[in-house]
Amino acid sequence: MQYTANSLEQHWMPFTANREFKNNPRLIVRSEGVYYWTHTGNRVLDASSGLFCCAAGHARQEIADAVARQLMEVDYCTHFQFGHPSSFELARRVAALTPDDLNHVFFVNSGSEAVDTALKIAMAYHRARGAGERQRFISRERAYHGVNIGGTSISGLMRNRQAFGAVMPGIAHMRHTWMPENRFVRGQPETGVELADDLQRFVDLYGGNTIAACFVEPIAGSTGFLIPPKGYLERLREVCDAHGILLVFDEVICGFGRTGKAFGAQSFGVTPDMMTMAKALTNGAQPMGAVAVRDGIYDTVVDAAPEGAVELFHGYTYSGHPAACAAGLATLDIYEKENLFERGAALSPYFLDAMYGLEDLPLITDIRGYGLLAGFDLEPSDAPGARGADVMKRLYEAGIYIKFTGDSGLVAPPLIAGEKDVDTIAETLREVIGKG
Ligand SMILES: Cc1ncc(COP(=O)(O)O)c(C=O)c1O
Repeated sequence: MQYTANSLEQHWMPFTANREFKNNPRLIVRSEGVYYWTHTGNRVLDASSGLFCCAAGHARQEIADAVARQLMEVDYCTHFQFGHPSSFELARRVAALTPDDLNHVFFVNSGSEAVDTALKIAMAYHRARGAGERQRFISRERAYHGVNIGGTSISGLMRNRQAFGAVMPGIAHMRHTWMPENRFVRGQPETGVELADDLQRFVDLYGGNTIAACFVEPIAGSTGFLIPPKGYLERLREVCDAHGILLVFDEVICGFGRTGKAFGAQSFGVTPDMMTMAKALTNGAQPMGAVAVRDGIYDTVVDAAPEGAVELFHGYTYSGHPAACAAGLATLDIYEKENLFERGAALSPYFLDAMYGLEDLPLITDIRGYGLLAGFDLEPSDAPGARGADVMKRLYEAGIYIKFTGDSGLVAPPLIAGEKDVDTIAETLREVIGKG
């Protein structure tokens, strides 16, 4: 198959150096298990599970069959005032995986939509309980919460915000949790809990009763996997409880076995009031996201509306799409039947040993890891991100796909990966990064 710059020109690609890509494309033409195949015929190990979506590996027959069956049964119906059985069943299954009383699930089509939906639910909840003055949101530097206007506003990555001036007002960012003294610490750092006091400082500055919610990723993902210091999430929970602030965990990357349990909330033993999720919910086979909320939030919003009235004026044409629900149900079946969360947890020590074994490479300036997530930072070259982009391309040529953000590599193999796959990832990283 021939690909020319002309035939690639019309697609304006997301988060891509379009001109460079179109001169030297990297096209994936087949996927199966832990592998991709490229248009030049190379086999590439998918060491980032796509974008942290394909936990059960690629091309799962069960998911494809379920989606195909669903499309021929009911391909689409609205979920505004009507319904299809599969969304109710998927909500029940998701609620069974979430901790405590996060028993109500609102479906959307992506992580970004999940975040913006959670922002709106927080506002609606406070208004419904007579606390409409709570309009501020707190998030964190280096956070990634998707790309819609709400998510961009609470994100903490400069490049994702810089070109977009008119974001939401009333947002304050806590400091990020990267600390030089915690370089190469494995798992949760011992120091840094005091960074959570930033939330208390915003309470002291603005008044706790003006703050609607605090959004954090349990492990800050896209920025390079910053693992929360011991006690940090617990401290955020305490401050939120003391001041009636909702705690929202953005579990879009951490969810579905990535951290050894169903969600980061369970791995770190802290229950939020809302959780956003997407990606591995359908193993990446269909676009879907969700927001899980505690009983009290759902009940407050629903009970505040007159009987028979719509309670929340929010939703998407494709909320709870039957094909996405079919993919979600088939995915959760696989996770359960194959014990994939336990399998990922069992592989974690071997995986982290292999990743921290790269510490001696002079170009690597930090490694962070937890569960089946490992982030490493490379010494920047002339421009920020240039080394990361170069290493990403050379790894791909050498048979490994790894997602990079700037000069940070994000390793997150599918939960079905084995020790041999981990060895291949570590050996290839050593070979490619060792060359400079
Ligand atoms: C924590 C987090 N939230 C939200 C998103 C946005 O998800 P999507 O790209 O599906 O909109 C991402 C994507 O990586 C994410 O990592």
